[in-house]
Amino acid sequence: MSTATLPVVDLDIFLAQPPSSEAVIQECQKAADALITYGALLLHDSRVSEDDNIAFLDLLEDYFAQPEDSLKKDERPELGYQVGVTLENTEKPKCAVDEPCLQVIANLDPQERPLDITAHSPDPKCRFFWKMSEKPPYETKFPSLNAPNVVPQEEKIKERWIPIMEKWGTSMKTAVENLAEMAALGLGLPQKTFTEAGRYGYVLFESHDSQMNNKDPIRSPHLLAPTASDLVKYSEKDTILAGFHTDLNFLTIHGRSRYPGLNIWARNTGKRIPVRFPPTGRYLLVQAGKQLEHLTGGLIKAGYHEVVVNDATLQAIGTRKSQHPDRPLIRISSTFFWHLSSDHWLEPIAPLSERARGIRIGVIDGENETVYEPMRVGQQVQNELRHIALMA
Ligand SMILES: [Fe+2]
Repeated sequence: MSTATLPVVDLDIFLAQPPSSEAVIQECQKAADALITYGALLLHDSRVSEDDNIAFLDLLEDYFAQPEDSLKKDERPELGYQVGVTLENTEKPKCAVDEPCLQVIANLDPQERPLDITAHSPDPKCRFFWKMSEKPPYETKFPSLNAPNVVPQEEKIKERWIPIMEKWGTSMKTAVENLAEMAALGLGLPQKTFTEAGRYGYVLFESHDSQMNNKDPIRSPHLLAPTASDLVKYSEKDTILAGFHTDLNFLTIHGRSRYPGLNIWARNTGKRIPVRFPPTGRYLLVQAGKQLEHLTGGLIKAGYHEVVVNDATLQAIGTRKSQHPDRPLIRISSTFFWHLSSDHWLEPIAPLSERARGIRIGVIDGENETVYEPMRVGQQVQNELRHIALMA
């Protein structure tokens, strides 16, 4: 197993000094280079509080420890699961049926391959989607369906829910937007290039569910999207909690999980990197998604990753059990998906796609040049969701 670690980018430097300062220029370059080379980086942000992460993880453990009947009340299948809860065994890893993705796996050194996803079973993970967006002041090209956030019913959870979700969601959103500014500068673009394109973060797609009885597209915004895996039920070594895949959005950001198990693949070496956060300090993990790949014409590639039960996960389960015997044994990942706005025209930015042409950083890139057809972001999301079985 690889012992490589991810580059650490310091948001504090970016926030403390003017964009023209040498230190900021260097840090922004580092951010862009890390995304090009690894598709991922660790972000240091002193504003993010460990206590907020703990409050968030505790809340979500309590939420997902509820009986299935209570959780089911928060499901919205008619809205493509884009708000509320998605129960386990719903979402399939797209890669299992996706030819280019299977080719990526085949190109990897056998030692570095992900756990086998070809059985194409849905992931045994639950998820909750909580929207974190500004309402667009313009009339969108797609009329929108108003899908309000779902607040759980159970009293003890309900009273804590909104403040904790909003607090943590805002921390993640602020950090990832600052990183998007750093990446833009590091790529030689105006600072606000990405953040303006994603300001309203509304992704719209059509629903094809007959029960909906409408042709209105669904509006899917920036999402705080924690996932939960039941470590009592799924604690055998080499269980796949989330199969090998890339994310469909622009950038994904995570806080520290209580249980290791997330592996990412570095584009340059094709080696599997188990994500390890520094033991203390305020660090977040950022990964590139498909929208960033599309907009940069493949200069940055969406990062492949999986979540599995490995030796480190089992060790953390043992420690947690002995230190907190009364707490639910559930692996929460504090994921936040940052999107571009649905109306945004997704077309490679010329100087970046020129830079991307001919670049072959590693085995992940494959032999064939990917074609990035221009389309609206809403269309791209719709295409991706069909693949992962979240839409009819
Ligand atoms: Fe993912």
